[in-house]
Amino acid sequence: MSTIDLRSDTVTRPGPGMRRAMAEAEVGDDVFGDDPTVNRLQDACAERIGMEAGLFFPTGTQSNLAALMSHCARGEEVIVGQEAHTYRYEAGGMAVLGSIQPQPLQNRPDGSLDLAEVEAAIKPNDPHFAVTKLVALENTIGGKVLPRAYLADAVALARRRGLWLHLDGARVFNAAVKLGVPVDRLCEGFDTVSVCLSKGLGAPAGTVLVGRRDVIDRAKRVRKMLGGTMRQSGVLAAAGLYALAHHEDRLAEDHANAERLGRGLASLGLRVEPVQTNMVFVHVPRESEAPLRAHLASRGLMTLPGPRMRLVTHLDVDAAGIDRAVEAFASFFRAANLKSQI
Ligand SMILES: Cc1ncc(COP(=O)(O)O)c(C=O)c1O
Repeated sequence: MSTIDLRSDTVTRPGPGMRRAMAEAEVGDDVFGDDPTVNRLQDACAERIGMEAGLFFPTGTQSNLAALMSHCARGEEVIVGQEAHTYRYEAGGMAVLGSIQPQPLQNRPDGSLDLAEVEAAIKPNDPHFAVTKLVALENTIGGKVLPRAYLADAVALARRRGLWLHLDGARVFNAAVKLGVPVDRLCEGFDTVSVCLSKGLGAPAGTVLVGRRDVIDRAKRVRKMLGGTMRQSGVLAAAGLYALAHHEDRLAEDHANAERLGRGLASLGLRVEPVQTNMVFVHVPRESEAPLRAHLASRGLMTLPGPRMRLVTHLDVDAAGIDRAVEAFASFFRAANLKSQI
């Protein structure tokens, strides 16, 4: 029985074409800046996102942290969502390693930050306060796409108030495919964007931070400080270039599979949140959670714990796999209903 892993879109394994590209990559020592494949990837990403320069990182966490540390000095502040990866899921790196003060704000149900609240959170120029320097957004966030008009308003606010703007664009290609617009349109006006190659795009590792050249130059020193400057990393960059060439448009399949999964689970009477991209959030009764996960595992389905279950579609799950997943849920709830009738 093959496994269907819906824990994350990070679980994909490189296929034969990507492995060939990696094996054949022309490499050099990137500490000296002479890995041609890394240089090509950085340039390609910068061009695609409409930025001046790019910098290759091993992970999205490090790329975000380097961006924040390049925008904010010790004691300066970033306004960020409570649900943002940079704030919630990166082990407090900005505070621990960057001495940056986060000013978290509650994300609205659509994933955005209320811009009036952002403006109100900007600290006055007074020695009591940290200096507010940066606003960080995330797109997609929890699988949701930030509306284009909202992004334009966020950029206008940042410009008006003299703040920098960072985008955690780990899944910004999902957002672009969903909206049917070129990805650079969603990044217009941002000073830096962190783009993961290891999520829906299917590379085994790697994130590119793109942005203004002066910020990327600072990020290069921060990356070195954080231990993220690699040597013959063209082997990984080749996977990233392959992913950009072959796996971008097919993100639409992941979105269609997520919709299929959402519809299937809703038809079982489960509460499913509206699906926008490649993430499905389904609510299961708390008492069913552990037995359900065990049942799903017995059917080859890997999921993360939680009564609000996050299921993520990706390159290594096709429509037949989705149907198997729905059937695994269905058989659990059929059996549970039978038991409750006895
Ligand atoms: C939105 C978002 N940003 C950043 C990251 C960090 O990426 P990495 O796991 O490569 O550190 C993740 C990882 O899941 C993510 O979902």
